[in-house]
Amino acid sequence: RSILVLNGPNLNLLGSRQPEVYGRVTLKMIDTNCIAQGKSLGAQVVCQQSNHEGVLIDAIHAAKGCHHGIVVNAGAYTHTSIALMDALASVELPCIEVHLSNIHAREDFRQVSHISKVALGQICGFGSLGYTMAISALIAHLEETG
Ligand code: DQA
Repeated sequence: RSILVLNGPNLNLLGSRQPEVYGRVTLKMIDTNCIAQGKSLGAQVVCQQSNHEGVLIDAIHAAKGCHHGIVVNAGAYTHTSIALMDALASVELPCIEVHLSNIHAREDFRQVSHISKVALGQICGFGSLGYTMAISALIAHLEETG
């Protein structure tokens, strides 16, 4: 099995970006943990990050036929991008939405997620741990659905 972990804008800055909100774990560390978690559960994990909406959409399109599911933190595009939601709906791959912070405890504009409408579920508020939780959940879902 193969899983794509897709990170959106500003998440390349994790570690130094508002550590009081997002923690001190870098994206590189998150990627390493995701790959290890996948490996321990028999899945290959490929990690990608972009600050550009179109690049993220292309990555979602390319995931079809290449990966079995997607873990996505779309950053601020979560709250704005119907195009990303449409891309995820188009490829019909199971998708789990992740946020480091608890978006429901923050500003009103962060409480709307277009991604949630096409995701199996959302994990938020657990910091970097959310990514490995999502990988476990996605692999369990793939096993359950054959
Ligand atoms: C985020 C939450 C978003 O509201 C924000 O724009 C981000 C990060 C999170 O992981 O908590 O860039 O997706």
